[in-house]
Amino acid sequence: SAAEKGGYDYFMLKEIAEQPKAVADTLLGRIDAAGLLTLDEVRIPVHELREIDKVVIVACGTAFHAGLIAKYAIEHWTRIPCEVELASEFRYRDPILGARSLVIAISQSGETMDTLMALRHAREQGSKVLAICNTNGSTIPRESDAVLYTHAGPEVAVASTKAFLTQLVACYLVALYLGQVRGTKWGDEIQAVIRDLSQISGEVERVLETMEPVRELARSVASKNTVLFLGRHVGYPVALEGALKLKELAYMHAEGFAAGELKHGPIALIEEGMPVVVVVPSPRGRSVLHDKIVSNIQEIRARGAMTIVIAEEGDETVVPYADHLIRIPATPTLLQPLVATVPLQVFACELATARGNEVDQPRNLAKSVTVE
Ligand code: AGP
Repeated sequence: SAAEKGGYDYFMLKEIAEQPKAVADTLLGRIDAAGLLTLDEVRIPVHELREIDKVVIVACGTAFHAGLIAKYAIEHWTRIPCEVELASEFRYRDPILGARSLVIAISQSGETMDTLMALRHAREQGSKVLAICNTNGSTIPRESDAVLYTHAGPEVAVASTKAFLTQLVACYLVALYLGQVRGTKWGDEIQAVIRDLSQISGEVERVLETMEPVRELARSVASKNTVLFLGRHVGYPVALEGALKLKELAYMHAEGFAAGELKHGPIALIEEGMPVVVVVPSPRGRSVLHDKIVSNIQEIRARGAMTIVIAEEGDETVVPYADHLIRIPATPTLLQPLVATVPLQVFACELATARGNEVDQPRNLAKSVTVE
């Protein structure tokens, strides 16, 4: 009913709007007054966390994209090698696991069969399993050694939005916590990032306030056949997520690429007027990445692409090459997906509407996939 949707036309719009609160709720009570993480709910003893020699993340769909981003954070802040694998592929590969492997299963519903089978396989090999889940008491957390709940509240729309942002927050918390208990050389940076993270919900709110041009842009490309998404570093999984949202909601051909891979094939796809969304990393921090992506934008534009550029406020170098420019607040590089994903969600939702599709219930899809 309209009341359930809180005055919004679709659950998806309501859930996009709820993201600042979902992010804040997922952080609530997990950072103490001294700026340290208190993840007591992760009932894996600290001495065992110190002994972990490998992290393996298993998930499907949007949750898998959260896992891809988590890998950058975990490897950077903990120096523990981290693999991310589609849950549906994982156990058939006979993965190398042991008692010192930490397997993280990410799932909004906690009922996804592929993810459940992957975690069962990991436990059979003697690995510890930590679930990151949004649904209290669901099967995946019940079968795990520990659980970190995301506090997004119930997500009704089939396309995942607020659950994704809270999965990212939970992944950052796990990465920072592992860094904290293991005492890596990134101590000061970890402290600074914890402070930035506690401010991030306000930044997500600011992004939501500036989405009208994104909706307009979506309507103007509604008759196109293909949209490509490019990113580097954590912007690459963001590109994959933008493309997945478009497939499931707009039923358009959409693909995400690592921008550096363009020249190895995908650049042949570029045609006159084809919309290409580019997620630009911050010019501060890893500036090499920024410069490389600016040349990628020039390359595709020279071949006729319509460039839709998502870039940090104050980044002026992209202006001459952006047919459309979407601004996001400055954040530390690793946290950028929390703000960069939001315009892509709004874009896909508006495209679905413009193309006359059912936003909350896309064809052929179920909210939780309980078959293998
Ligand atoms: C995303 O928009 C999806 N509908 C889908 O990819 C989803 O993220 C995936 O099926 C995993 O679901 P889960 O988080 O409930 O395990």
